[in-house]
Parts: sequence; C-alpha cells; structure tokens
Amino acid sequence: MLSLYCIQFFIFSTCVHIFTVFTYLVYYSDLVTTKYFHEIQPEYDYIIVGSGTAGSIIAHRLATETNYTFLVVEAGSRSNALLEAPVLGPFFHGSILDWQYETVPQEYACFAMKNNKCKLAQGKIIGGSSKLNNMIHFRGNISHYVEWFHEKFTKEFITEQFEFVEKNILHLNDMQYQSELADAVLAAAEELKYEKLGT
Ligand SMILES: *[C@@H]1O[C@H](CO)[C@@H](O)[C@H](O)[C@H]1NC(C)=O
Ligand SMILES: *[C@@H]1O[C@H](CO)[C@@H](O)[C@H](O)[C@H]1NC(C)=O
Repeated sequence: MLSLYCIQFFIFSTCVHIFTVFTYLVYYSDLVTTKYFHEIQPEYDYIIVGSGTAGSIIAHRLATETNYTFLVVEAGSRSNALLEAPVLGPFFHGSILDWQYETVPQEYACFAMKNNKCKLAQGKIIGGSSKLNNMIHFRGNISHYVEWFHEKFTKEFITEQFEFVEKNILHLNDMQYQSELADAVLAAAEELKYEKLGT
C-alpha cells in the first residue's frame, strides 16, 4: 500500500516538475522572441499598460472595432495552447507566471498559513489573473469605484457597467456545480452576518 502511495507521489511530483520547466521555457523563449523579432513604432494612438483581464479586453475592442494604433505593454509572457486549459490554472500559482505576492500577516485570516500570510496569485502573463483563477470572476467593491472616480459616477451607473461587461463581453455563467461543502460555508458566512460582495 505504502509503495503505491510512493509511486503516485513520484508520478505527481514528476508531472509538476515537467510543468514547471515548461513554464520557464515558455517565459524565456517568449522574452527572446519579443526582444529580437518585434518592432516598436515611434508613435501610437494608445498605450495599454498591462494585458491582464481588463487590458486584454480593451486591446481586443480597439483591434476589432476601431482603426486606432496601439501598443500593449505586458511584463509576463504570451500564453500558448496548453496554458489555456483552466484545470492547469492552479499549477501557475507561485510559478514564474505569477507575481507571487503575499499579504501582510493577518490578524483575523490565513490561520492555516505560515505567519498568517496568504498568497495572492496574480497572473504575469497575457490574460493576467484570468489565466490562473480557475475561471472565477469576482466583482470589485462598487464603493471603491465610486471613490476612484471622485463620485463622478453613481453606484447604480457603475453597477450597470459591470452588468454590461459581464453579460456581453465576458459572457459569464453562474457556477454549474456546487458541492454540499460550499453550501455549508455560504450558510455559515450568512449566519455570521458577512455581507455579500459588490454592494
Ligand atoms: C477603418 O478603416 C477602414 C478602411 O479605411 C474603413 O473601411 C473602416 O470604416 C474604418 N473603421 C472604423 C471603425 O473607423
Ligand atoms: C466596500 O467598501 C466600503 C468602503 O471602503 C466598505 O465600507 C464596505 O465594508 C466594503 N464592502 C465589502 C463587502 O467589503
């Protein structure tokens, strides 16, 4: 029995190592090809800084709906077909395709982590965090957007914009499967009077 676990462990860690080597190959080969084979023009109509979820959407719309010239600047590498499989997302956490941020030590959270510091996975790749977040979309806190725009837009207006993007551009669906454990966690959060996000 023990030897069976050993074999499983061996196979699994070999796969993880192969995948890690693969991400390094993708990252550095892209760095080299971008450096030597892409010409940068002296002038653009727009420069998009960061090709994460938002930057990629803006770039796509500029490319398909306008004739503006634009440059997209991204610190991470380009993606490739294998990296498109959502099930592989968790393998990117902590990899070279992740900014590898962590929180400051938490007083009320991250109790299972060393020094109560949680990892904050953020994609360093074209597509950004949408590449490694298990296809979960999370609306920001609307009050913060109101603040960022110096109250130029109301909560209702910003919520409408979110709804438009989520429906027409991101094509979001509700989760298709939910386990009993998830139901229990949500019920517990409600019992503890945690607010629903996005309000
Ligand atoms: C872009 O340019 C093409 C060719 O000049 C033109 O037919 C088209 O209408 C332009 N599109 C927009 C959105 O301006
Ligand atoms: C949203 O942000 C506001 C202002 O910072 C804060 O009072 C509120 O608790 C936040 N809501 C959630 C659900 O985090």
